[in-house]
Amino acid sequence: MTETRPKLLVIEDDPGLQAQLKWAYEDFDVIVAGDRASALTLLRAEMPDVVTLDLGLPPDPDGTTEGFAVLDEIMALKPGTKVIVASGHGARESALQAIARGAYDFYPKPVDIDALGLIVRRALQLHRLEEENRRLASRAEKDEKVLGRLITTAPEMLRVARTIERVANTNVSVMLLGASGTGKELLARGLHEASDRAKREFVAINCAAIPENLLESELFGHEKGAFTGAVKTTPGKIELAAGGTLFLDEVGDIPLQLQVKLLRFLQERVIERVGSRESIPVDTRIVCATHQDLEAMIGEGRFREDLFYRLAEIVVRIPSLSERPGDAALLAKAFLHRHARDMNPSVRGFAADALAAIDAWHWPGNVRELENRVKRAVIMADEKLVGAADLDLADPDEQVINALNLKSAREQADRKVIRHALARSEGNISSTAKMLGISRPTLYDLLKQYDLQN
Ligand SMILES: Nc1ncnc2c1ncn2[C@@H]1O[C@H](COP(=O)(O)OP(=O)(O)OP(=O)(O)O)[C@@H](O)[C@H]1O
Ligand SMILES: [Mg+2]
Repeated sequence: MTETRPKLLVIEDDPGLQAQLKWAYEDFDVIVAGDRASALTLLRAEMPDVVTLDLGLPPDPDGTTEGFAVLDEIMALKPGTKVIVASGHGARESALQAIARGAYDFYPKPVDIDALGLIVRRALQLHRLEEENRRLASRAEKDEKVLGRLITTAPEMLRVARTIERVANTNVSVMLLGASGTGKELLARGLHEASDRAKREFVAINCAAIPENLLESELFGHEKGAFTGAVKTTPGKIELAAGGTLFLDEVGDIPLQLQVKLLRFLQERVIERVGSRESIPVDTRIVCATHQDLEAMIGEGRFREDLFYRLAEIVVRIPSLSERPGDAALLAKAFLHRHARDMNPSVRGFAADALAAIDAWHWPGNVRELENRVKRAVIMADEKLVGAADLDLADPDEQVINALNLKSAREQADRKVIRHALARSEGNISSTAKMLGISRPTLYDLLKQYDLQN
């Protein structure tokens, strides 16, 4: 296998030394520059791994200004380059200054070719290691795209991720159902990024956050003068999502009247801006989410059944965090490292009591609550390890003690154990029953009694 030879740029104005250095390193591809301009041209063209730099270059061969100027430019252009600076006698001062400005090392003049060779090879080795690390890090970043940002080892959640990946490249509309903070928006984005629409926009609109009277124009856009305050023609979110993905968050909050208009868009794939009769065709992928019980809303006449079926060609149910055994601790560690890096780098991890508390807590606010608590704990922590007290979680037993009576406390405990067992056995009834030490019919009875459909 022929490996490309490493490149060494020698910046030196003395022709004798130039020649000597040029032939000194057989295993390197040596290129030579005699002044600042040619050094920079070669730097850009050849991107050397290592540079040896004589600080005294023309037009200031007895000073250091040209040398330092070259060093600064190399550090600005390619800071990873290993620069080794020559220090003439009595120039130790400037050698140290060069190191402070980013040089890797210095060598004394007159040059001892063997000694310099050692420094150059050590620099090369370090440079290669750093490049390799950078390459791995950028690959990790790429892998992180798509659903890689989703942190989970729970089978139930992995199944959700697989479903999302599988439907990403179809155009079916996807409805994400899950409690608040379970990751609906993260999954919607993941779906967009995994799809062939990824190069175009992902446009999110939270239908619950926008006043009813403004929602129509937010979604469909408006013409100038369509209503008071419509000072210029503005495209709506649907139009902005053309070619990409439109995420309708809290879709259950769309008022009935607007549901009709949305349904028409989904059937005909054209929109009319408020105040205009012109039909504009828009191709966009619809993903929606809600924490509401849309089926119940349909029963009560608050949500149109026909719209529901248009929006929910595929329904993905996202389990709450307490239904993903092991995930809370896993996510907590990831959030701790992320926030420690940004806000309190002396924090290194969790104390054992903190992890136990995280595992035992029921996480009513799901991943969002977990992230907020960890973030606050990281900011407040005085020690290297975040302790249980920093997380400010009530004693989990209190959750049960707070229950109305013994019967409901037992029920709570039953539900929790059953949900965990179901998740561990990936919803398989026989193995769940076995795990719980009860018969299958008993398990069925309990599932029905507690309304725990798997
Ligand atoms: N499995 C996960 N891995 C990593 N981060 C997650 C995961 N789930 C959620 N998050 C993060 O938790 C936060 C809440 O998630 P997201 O906003 O997607 O939830 P949501 O279901 O839309 O919540 P809400 O109903 O409150 O709008 C976000 O910062 C998100 O990046
Ligand atoms: Mg959300």
